[in-house]
Amino acid sequence: MHTTIIKVDRNNPDRDKLRFAADVLRSGGLVAFPTETVYGLGANALDEKAVYGIFNAKGRPSDNPLIVHIADTGDLPRLVREVPETAQRLIDAYWPGPLTLVMKKSDVIPPRITAGLDTVGIRMPSHPVARELIALAKVPVAAPSANISGKPSTTTAAHVIEDLAGKVDVIIDSGSSEVGVESTVLDATVDPPVILRPGGITPEQVSRVAGAVQVDASLFGRNDENFVPRSPGMKYTHYSPEADVYIVDGPMEKVVEFINRKCAENAAKGIKTGVLASEQTMRQYGPATVICAGDRNRPETVAAGLFDNLRRFDHLGVQVIYVEAFDAKGIGLAVMNRLYRAAGGKLINISGGGET
Ligand code: TXA
Ligand code: MG
Repeated sequence: MHTTIIKVDRNNPDRDKLRFAADVLRSGGLVAFPTETVYGLGANALDEKAVYGIFNAKGRPSDNPLIVHIADTGDLPRLVREVPETAQRLIDAYWPGPLTLVMKKSDVIPPRITAGLDTVGIRMPSHPVARELIALAKVPVAAPSANISGKPSTTTAAHVIEDLAGKVDVIIDSGSSEVGVESTVLDATVDPPVILRPGGITPEQVSRVAGAVQVDASLFGRNDENFVPRSPGMKYTHYSPEADVYIVDGPMEKVVEFINRKCAENAAKGIKTGVLASEQTMRQYGPATVICAGDRNRPETVAAGLFDNLRRFDHLGVQVIYVEAFDAKGIGLAVMNRLYRAAGGKLINISGGGET
């Protein structure tokens, strides 16, 4: 398949270029487009065959439901059976933005989108290019992250080209996604609402409006087969670079000491080792491929570059990556959740005495 790549200025989107992409969507094609969180792989949500194309291009398991994107809150009523009161308050506060609300679906939504569930996740992105594209398409747009299933999500058009060139009709290039981790997925059918996937909107932001919020206990849970998370996507290994990833948690000086020891051991065995370190500690590592994750006191900086950094390690041919743990507070919760998934749950805890 030929993939057309079009550049569109984030701040001043060219309507003619977007009209071309919108027509592709309307006629059943696949369009990768930027959002404020990550790039999405879009298809007309009301066209089952087009939606099937998404699963096919990504190699996505068919039991993992898709989020439906809208450009206007006026598009919401026909897609869901009801908008619960708490959901409405969250919409007023955080749409457009990185919050996906799971509500009871209407019959308009094809079952393939929701993997047979009777709920659907809906979000209104804030990225001007995404908004304009969806508005011009005049249809709701189903879109997962625009990566091959299992790989780190895509936050630049270059990432999307790496994964999906030749498999989709159009890729829109508008530079980097600013948030860097996906939207928060919130089950709004229950009271208090439950965070199924942490993301760009923090638990604190949700509870400020909803009064209370629960976090799905499975988020940092086990990866075994008997275990059924409430968000189907969370059961798959995800966000994984080629390298083996380990998260190292504990007092910072112990973490640095431990990682340095592992790097030296690996170097002796000829294993190429990477370290994802904070601005605060990155200079304390000896010979290793060190990438700066951002400022540990500003988790939004770590989120913004997270997937790009994981992909960079792959390009550098690193075989093992040690990642410093970050505080799971604010958007740091989403960062740690993605790292935990990338590591397949491999978290090493260095308490005062040593490795446990
Ligand atoms: O920021 C985002 O949300 C990005 C951009 C493109 O909008 N999209 C995204 O989609 O991350 P995806 O497909 O990669 O992740 C969607 C997540 C999955 O974990 C899926 O299981 C969950 O949302 N989800 C979707 N519909 C659901 C539903 N009805 N009930 C529970 N979880 C749902
Ligand atoms: Mg995804």
